[in-house]
Amino acid sequence: MNTLEVKNIKKTFKLSRKQQKIEKTKIKLKVAVDDLSFTAYSGEIFGLLGPNGAGKTTCLRAISTLIKPDEGDIIVGGSSVVDDSNSVRGKIGFLTSELKLEDHFTPNYLYTYFSRLHGIEEEVIQERKGVFFKKFGIEEFMEVKVGDLSTGMKQKVSIAISLVHDPEFIIFDEPTNGLDVLTARSVTDYLIELKESGKTVILSTHILSVVDKLCDRVGIIINGKMKICDTIENVLSTNPNNDLEEIFFDLVKEDELLGGAY
Ligand SMILES: Nc1ncnc2c1ncn2[C@@H]1O[C@H](COP(=O)(O)OP(=O)(O)OP(=O)(O)O)[C@@H](O)[C@H]1O
Ligand SMILES: [Mg+2]
Repeated sequence: MNTLEVKNIKKTFKLSRKQQKIEKTKIKLKVAVDDLSFTAYSGEIFGLLGPNGAGKTTCLRAISTLIKPDEGDIIVGGSSVVDDSNSVRGKIGFLTSELKLEDHFTPNYLYTYFSRLHGIEEEVIQERKGVFFKKFGIEEFMEVKVGDLSTGMKQKVSIAISLVHDPEFIIFDEPTNGLDVLTARSVTDYLIELKESGKTVILSTHILSVVDKLCDRVGIIINGKMKICDTIENVLSTNPNNDLEEIFFDLVKEDELLGGAY
């Protein structure tokens, strides 16, 4: 049962003085995610689409057990992030730009290190490492320090490391951000491979074409709230021109009229 169910989660942050200054606001509490629900199924890519500050990363961090929702729960393959976060951690692979690889270690060292943390047998570690490193062209850079790698290569190493334990649930926050088209393509092709092998893939993005080309279903999140959640086909059919960009802009405008932050 590889379903992931986000059930009415809410997350509020207290803003520090410094954050209030940065965000140019006097409010002390920010509701980052507000009664958010969606379900992602095995064999599909679910895209969480939203503008900057919409709450995408907060939602993915809650799924990945890095933060606890204030309200609601997330059930990952039958395990609750609130009651059984350890069990959830074993089932998910999480990728975010917030988690940085240490510059002075090599891909080879880091891959083995994280695999051992997950308690994976040595034989399996070497076998999977060989497959990943070949697929992503990491082989010739495996003994180069991370600090000396290109952005794209670092991202590919991060992806390989997030998947050392062959998780059923793949939670990727903006996986193609900052990548050139070729590298981005190798990442999105791999995500398709993962979904075709029956994994449940959730990714966040603010890039409409990523959703259009890659995702089976999409949730559009604005100001912490889920505005639309459906198959790409059904979402597109709500607009006479079948245009995701127009749908997205209309939703943002509608939220502004309702007094949202954008
Ligand atoms: N730890 C935190 N403390 C205070 N506020 C936070 C914290 N994390 C997120 N926020 C606030 O919550 C809101 C949602 O942030 P989040 O990072 O989830 O958005 P996002 O959709 O991932 O945006 P982006 O596209 O810029 O990555 C923002 O207003 C952000 O400033
Ligand atoms: Mg984010």
